[in-house]
Amino acid sequence: MPILQLSEVSRSFGQGARRVDAVREVSLQVDRGEVVALEGPSGSGKTTLLALAGALLTPTAGEILVDGEDITKYGARARTRYRRDRVGFVFQGSNMVPFLTARENLLLVGDFGAIDRPALRRRADELLEQLDLAGVRDQVATSLSGGERQRVAIARALMRDPTLLLVDEPTASLNFELGARVVDALLSEVHLRDKACIMVTHDDRMAQRADRLVEILDGAIVSDRPLR
Ligand SMILES: Nc1ncnc2c1ncn2[C@@H]1O[C@H](COP(=O)(O)OP(=O)(O)OP(=O)(O)O)[C@@H](O)[C@H]1O
Ligand SMILES: [Mg+2]
Repeated sequence: MPILQLSEVSRSFGQGARRVDAVREVSLQVDRGEVVALEGPSGSGKTTLLALAGALLTPTAGEILVDGEDITKYGARARTRYRRDRVGFVFQGSNMVPFLTARENLLLVGDFGAIDRPALRRRADELLEQLDLAGVRDQVATSLSGGERQRVAIARALMRDPTLLLVDEPTASLNFELGARVVDALLSEVHLRDKACIMVTHDDRMAQRADRLVEILDGAIVSDRPLR
């Protein structure tokens, strides 16, 4: 069973002459251990699609199954729980807390949970190690490079061990070399931990590193092909 399965999902905003069809009858599935690059021009519906998969938005039509469960049928509390426990978001622009260290930024995620502190610290250190951030663990966010910040944002999204990672433009402000390192770190985490991931990007060189490439244009998927 795929982790994520969208069936003819549509989402529009506004009404009448002002209506925008941001996502139009999209069908897409993402399997365990798979990174799907979602590529398309500005305004093509990429962020809207991520928000739908993460239950930040509800579709106007269609069905979204996660581990076989229809998340569009969830009430407010189930949606909150789903977003908190099963989805890891990395939003456009990595939004770290500036004056906390890399490690403190990871531990922040645990503050509203019931997991014990030592276990959280172990998990944070393990993720920092795996994302090649152990050396900058105690540096404040403002002193980190763009690529390091993006990897911290990915580590933070992984703290709760989500099944689904939704990553919006992780390499937008980075040069090729730093961007490639961020994408490769993401790939190895998803493969190692058997997550499913959608990574939005404008940059075809980054998209080409993923397991699969899906192209979106005006809210509709225009191509979907494996890359390995
Ligand atoms: N809340 C909203 N209200 C009205 N229109 C919206 C809303 N959110 C998105 N849209 C419109 O839906 C379309 C798709 O937007 P979306 O943010 O998904 O694009 P995108 O592919 O992520 O673009 P970018 O690459 O610039 O981030 C755009 O035309 C946008 O203006
Ligand atoms: Mg966007």
